[in-house]
Amino acid sequence: MQNPKRYLITAALPYANGLKHVGHLAGAYIPADIYARYLRAQERDVVFVCGSDEHGTAIPIQARKEGTTPQAIIDKYHAAMQQDFADLDIQFDIYHRTSAPLHHETASAFFTQLEKAGDLETKETEQFYDPEAKSFLADRYIKGTCPACQSDRAFGDQCESCGRSLSPEELIRPVSTLSGATPILKKTTHWYLPLGKHEDFLRKWILENHGADWRPAVVGQCKGWIEGGLQSRAVTRDLDWGVKVPLPQANGKVLYVWFDAPIGYISATKQWALDHGKDWGPYWKDAETKLVHFIGKDNIVFHCIIFPVMLKLGGYILPDNVPSNEFLNLEGDKMSTSRNWKLDMREYINDFVKKENGGGQAVDMLRYYLTQIAPETKDSEFTWKGFQDAVNSELVAVLGNFVNRTWVLMHKLCKGKVPPYHTGVADEYDQRLIEQIQTSTQIVTQHLEQYQFRDALFAVVDLARHGNQYMQRKEPWILAKRLEQEPEAQKAIDNCLHLCLQLCANLAILGNPFLPNTSKTLCHMMKVVDRMLEWKHAGRIDLLKVGYSLREPQLLFRKIEDTEIDIQLEKLKSNIMPPDSPAPTPSEQPLGKPPIQFDDFAKVELKVGTIVAAEKVEKADKLLKLSVDLGSETRTIVSGIALHYAPEDIIGKQVTVVTNLAPRKMRGIESNGMILMAEDPVGKLHFVNPDTPIQPGSGIS
Ligand code: 2FM
Ligand code: ZN
Repeated sequence: MQNPKRYLITAALPYANGLKHVGHLAGAYIPADIYARYLRAQERDVVFVCGSDEHGTAIPIQARKEGTTPQAIIDKYHAAMQQDFADLDIQFDIYHRTSAPLHHETASAFFTQLEKAGDLETKETEQFYDPEAKSFLADRYIKGTCPACQSDRAFGDQCESCGRSLSPEELIRPVSTLSGATPILKKTTHWYLPLGKHEDFLRKWILENHGADWRPAVVGQCKGWIEGGLQSRAVTRDLDWGVKVPLPQANGKVLYVWFDAPIGYISATKQWALDHGKDWGPYWKDAETKLVHFIGKDNIVFHCIIFPVMLKLGGYILPDNVPSNEFLNLEGDKMSTSRNWKLDMREYINDFVKKENGGGQAVDMLRYYLTQIAPETKDSEFTWKGFQDAVNSELVAVLGNFVNRTWVLMHKLCKGKVPPYHTGVADEYDQRLIEQIQTSTQIVTQHLEQYQFRDALFAVVDLARHGNQYMQRKEPWILAKRLEQEPEAQKAIDNCLHLCLQLCANLAILGNPFLPNTSKTLCHMMKVVDRMLEWKHAGRIDLLKVGYSLREPQLLFRKIEDTEIDIQLEKLKSNIMPPDSPAPTPSEQPLGKPPIQFDDFAKVELKVGTIVAAEKVEKADKLLKLSVDLGSETRTIVSGIALHYAPEDIIGKQVTVVTNLAPRKMRGIESNGMILMAEDPVGKLHFVNPDTPIQPGSGIS
């Protein structure tokens, strides 16, 4: 769509059942954020919506695993995910949630509209039912033996051992995970969306209208679904967690999560409009809105087939594009939450972002690498070595180096001010650099318009590379040595640094959608306001006024050391769950620990201690060396709390100590015991202590 009036950008609503990893980030959130930032810089009317997907069986299953309620699970993970996105500067206009009453109303009304118009069908089928728990069983609630590999790690939809897709009836000796009972088949009625009736529309809309402009993998998958025959899809479920089906005869049924979740994009837009005194209608109903869904490839069918049919029936606009990404692997293997082979956003935030002053550099380093390896056309791979190389040899050696050289030389050779440009002495290299700035602007813009974020980013860094080559050719530091004999040389120095500075200003604009913190730092160094970052200024070479004095340079990126990479690799390998560990429950995340007998628990000696001294452990960011008074003795305990507490703030605090843990050496210090800590949803650690101070050494049982 050429020159739409407004844009609505969506990024897949993540399930609120666990923390999200960098594969999710690379697949949907970073590309969507880059696109939205680019459109905002173009001063387009754009709304970027997302939120937590809080329904479906994944939520109650996670609640059972954590021994809590579905509500507690969504509250915990909604807050945690929202925080993680904010920490990585994913700038949604709204991060909503599908448990919000506005969403329930919107999804109910959508269902009612389709039902009243006769667009849904009902069908009675037989489904597995747990006679003890008195509940129909969603596929994930049925376990059994896999008919293909005989593993007992098979669920009603998939075998966790061999990966085969299953239906519940195929399982050998099925059992209900709710009660352990053998399920029986029982009749139930559901509402279906008859996709087959919309085949002609889908063929024409996807294959004819978008066959050429959507990504080939997206069109290919859609073609496969259409050619394979479109079956009616149930849009309701027998479950007590979700949006209630708004019909009296549907007591005890909820909307299928994949019916209500994409409607979440609409309710998020409504909430955004309410918050900003706007009208949500045109964003979803006016043909001049460009709707773009950013998703991972496992979501294609829902965003390209099912939701569009719903949108068409509901009288809404259709997506203009669905730039879906393939998957991101990690160090040679598929990312997996159940095997714990993954890098959570939260882990990166704790290990890199929180450790730096402001954290912006570390955020941009991750955004850079994930964009550079984005799985736009095929699966790609995150490796820590690749991350280190991308940062050290591109961000540090090319982009950071160019900016730094420019600033240092400008301060040294041009008195810290933007030097004039003397057209009389301009040469072909100057001219070529000016042309390069303009060409790069066009290339970056074209790639962004076509959702080619990797190529766009490459073109930005390539422009910095041109800057380095130009400076290398001009050698202003050599010219400076000749100044005494040849005062005219100052003009060539001025021209070189004038253009290098203008190039830096262009890098700030073109790099902003990808590396927002770097652009912010550049603006600070240039003493300009954010408005300079508007896209219309890109390609100009008069962005910095002659004679304007600029600040001292700041280091844009630091090098990643080998030791940092080694630590991450070590952590990854030590955290992986062995293949023969107990079967995880399906919707991700390892199970809670198995029950123990009281005698096992009684082996642990717990006492109240008082911290009497604390100091940092050298070369170990996370460790504090504590002296803990236990009444009859004072122990040295090394504890991994340094990122959460300053030593001086914890003197006198009471803590719970495991006193009979075998001694362990950490960084050469023998630790005699362990302090128990509680971790909140955002990963902060808290002491576990008595509600009022008591005698150190008091036993805990
Ligand atoms: O795959 C997922 O994580 C889903 N929660 C995505 C939903 S996207 C949209 F439809 F809400
Ligand atoms: Zn199997």
